[in-house]
Amino acid sequence: MHINTNFRQLRPSYLFTEIVNRTRAYQASHPDAQILRMGVGDARGPMAPSVIAALHAAVEEQNSVDHFHGYGLENGEEWLRERIAEVEYKMHDIPMTIDEVFISDGAGSDIGNVSDLFTADNHVAITDPVYPAYYDSSVMAGRRILLLPATAENGFAPMPEENSDPYDIIFLCSPGNPTGTALTKTQLQVWVDYANRHGSIILFDGAYEAYIGDSDVPHSIYEIAGARTCAIEIRSFSKMAGFTGVRCGYTVVPKELERDGLSLNALWLRRQCTKFNGASILSQRGAMAVLTDEGKKEVMARVGEYKQNASLLKQALQAQGITVYGADNSPYVWFRVPDGYTSWSYFDYLLDHYHIVSTPGSGFGPSGEGYIRLTGFGTPESTQLAIERLQNKGALR
Ligand code: MLT
Repeated sequence: MHINTNFRQLRPSYLFTEIVNRTRAYQASHPDAQILRMGVGDARGPMAPSVIAALHAAVEEQNSVDHFHGYGLENGEEWLRERIAEVEYKMHDIPMTIDEVFISDGAGSDIGNVSDLFTADNHVAITDPVYPAYYDSSVMAGRRILLLPATAENGFAPMPEENSDPYDIIFLCSPGNPTGTALTKTQLQVWVDYANRHGSIILFDGAYEAYIGDSDVPHSIYEIAGARTCAIEIRSFSKMAGFTGVRCGYTVVPKELERDGLSLNALWLRRQCTKFNGASILSQRGAMAVLTDEGKKEVMARVGEYKQNASLLKQALQAQGITVYGADNSPYVWFRVPDGYTSWSYFDYLLDHYHIVSTPGSGFGPSGEGYIRLTGFGTPESTQLAIERLQNKGALR
């Protein structure tokens, strides 16, 4: 019997778990501290009224003999997939059929699950710093990983290196986490062309799509010519509509995506039918409400508020002479810690002196060392309080 010793290569605890644990420990030893949680990118309640009404109605359906839902389709209810394919993608002139859309219990799960489609000997390219699940799930699968440094010098948007071994699997996230960088059409075209030339697969994380404001930033990788033969897109209702607790997302696998004579769409369906019994009917009803005109209006008002929070944080830090990235197409701000600090020591400093929880940049990869991330997911009031604390004490110390 052999267990998966690849786990030995991982840090003992996941980044966001570590942050929650450290925050709890600090609160326990400082019970009077009014801690502002700007670390983990978690949405806040209440959810949008349309979603709440749909969730209530969905619960009532389960309380009825005639309308009760038992097992659903493993790839999700047709009405939700139809809405996503025929309204959400069509809105951006992207042709999509409903059997290319697979409803999930969130992007985090599918980022790891999609690994089942590929053997362990594939090389993975991951921009660094980045959402840690890409790296951790690739380590668990025993894959060789190449980190592509995303630095201020390259605008946090590394491009493929033609001289290195071809990457088989490429993780891209735009707008990106943690730096908030959004890739333009031209930049994404370079990646898509590279992937088609080398037979690579791009795993495109669009969890922050709702935050896009700039007109040259594509909302989907399928806006890029050639993407249907090389890209899988993973999306979530979490950051858009506060589904971090309710759980719902979707993954798109185009019919044209084939390798070794096999359709990845067919493989993914086969995988989901075996290992996943479909997303909860309750969360799918809630997700459907998000995609109505009223629901969209409600959730986008909250997204606007998160973006405004991030933007105010950015301005307040800039007013202290700090160079700050992100916020424009993202709920995150990203900035360098003052000289003499590491990311984790500045995390401790912010927690201890300001009672502000942040996320240390090094938790997102080695190139994140020396940076810190704050989120705009608080309320306008808590964000204002954070700004006052940072202004009164001066963040640059
Ligand atoms: C974060 O970056 O804070 C995350 O997106 C939280 C998560 O999705 O696990």
